[in-house]
Amino acid sequence: MKNFFLAFSLIFSILLSSACVDKSANSTTNSGSGDGDIKVGVYGDTSGATSSFGQSTKNGIQLAFDEINAAGGVNGRKLIMLFEDDQGRPEQAKTVVSKLINQDRVQALLGEVASTNSLAAAPVAQDAKIPMITPSSTNPKVTEVGDYISRVCFIDPFQGLVMAKFAGNTLKAKTAAIIGDVNSDYSKGLTAVFEQEFTKLGGRVVAKEAYTQTDPDFKGQLTKIRNLNPEVIYIPGYYGQVGIIAKQARELGMNMPLLGGDGWDSPDLWKLGGESLKNAYISNHYSADNPAPEIQNFVKAYRAKFNTAPDSLAALAYDAAKVLADAIKRAGGTDGAKLKDAINATKEFKGVTGSITLDANRNAVKPAVVLELNPTDSKFTFKETINPEGMSAPTAANTNTMSNGNMMMNANAMSNGNMMMNSNTTNSNSNMNSTMNANR
Ligand code: PHE
Repeated sequence: MKNFFLAFSLIFSILLSSACVDKSANSTTNSGSGDGDIKVGVYGDTSGATSSFGQSTKNGIQLAFDEINAAGGVNGRKLIMLFEDDQGRPEQAKTVVSKLINQDRVQALLGEVASTNSLAAAPVAQDAKIPMITPSSTNPKVTEVGDYISRVCFIDPFQGLVMAKFAGNTLKAKTAAIIGDVNSDYSKGLTAVFEQEFTKLGGRVVAKEAYTQTDPDFKGQLTKIRNLNPEVIYIPGYYGQVGIIAKQARELGMNMPLLGGDGWDSPDLWKLGGESLKNAYISNHYSADNPAPEIQNFVKAYRAKFNTAPDSLAALAYDAAKVLADAIKRAGGTDGAKLKDAINATKEFKGVTGSITLDANRNAVKPAVVLELNPTDSKFTFKETINPEGMSAPTAANTNTMSNGNMMMNANAMSNGNMMMNSNTTNSNSNMNSTMNANR
């Protein structure tokens, strides 16, 4: 009897594995817009200096694909992710995207996170006419590469403006210093926007210091900044350096607010920066604390699968995957030209990072959030939602009138003719004024 079961399970597993081989053989021969599985190339950094970006992105896409496939796929076709690690290096990003296109014959691409890597790979996708959606690269140049390249996130002229307004209007700072990554298009773009917008508000940028991702130490640059005693420091970089910069700034006795952008978003930031990340604020794409049911359902499903909270990379990747699936459905398949048209026509797609509408330049027009860093709990706490101009209507995902104790968002976004944006500010949990006064 035992033998019978053994033999039975052996035969069963052989059958199962041959079914799997058959399936993948099918999908590898499917190079066009036929009806086999749909192969989506995903590229990102899972082993380099920004490895948490790639890991979260991969997870977000996996969750979206699993949900879509469990519900029957797209027009009956399953979505298969082919992932390549580019180690966070632009040259490698270009190489793996060529491989995904020419060897693996993917029908669409999702990636990268860091703008410099997306910029390196986008021309390959554009030339091959394979649609590429970057979930999270915010530098404007990325989508300027061509009509096959789009994104589901906002761009840096908006993100930089949000933080300049936060510094000038909310914190009432008159002087700022900037320390940025000279090899990152993302960092350079944000530096320029922040300076321009902060200056327009009557503020003055008193110092601009540069670093590279391989710098062992930032105290030289920080000491120069300290001598000028700015009221805030803007650090438009990635978490790996930001965590250390924050720590070294505090060691040098610099206790002013530190401001940043989405590039800070990583669970590793807390390990690097610890308590020195107190009195710091960033602009970001979404808040996992938002009580809106669609966000909380996503957070729950992600936690169940990956045992950690989804950061904004995971949320944007999830949205990018769902936008792609929606476009494949509308395009009636994966023909490159039709698919890119369908992606570019995306309107009011209800994502977990807000309502996604692509503008004429294939950039998503959507709100940003300002988050306060809470190192004691290793958490980003929601402060306010900022809508771009022309978007005063609250969206399901960014607005909720319910207070959950930690936050209360105001659903009535006030439009201000002078401003390029409007904001929904927290009514509770605001210790902003006392924080600011303590630093003056
Ligand atoms: N916006 C960043 C860039 O373009 C990437 C990023 C997005 C990082 C979201 C963290 C969170 O380089």
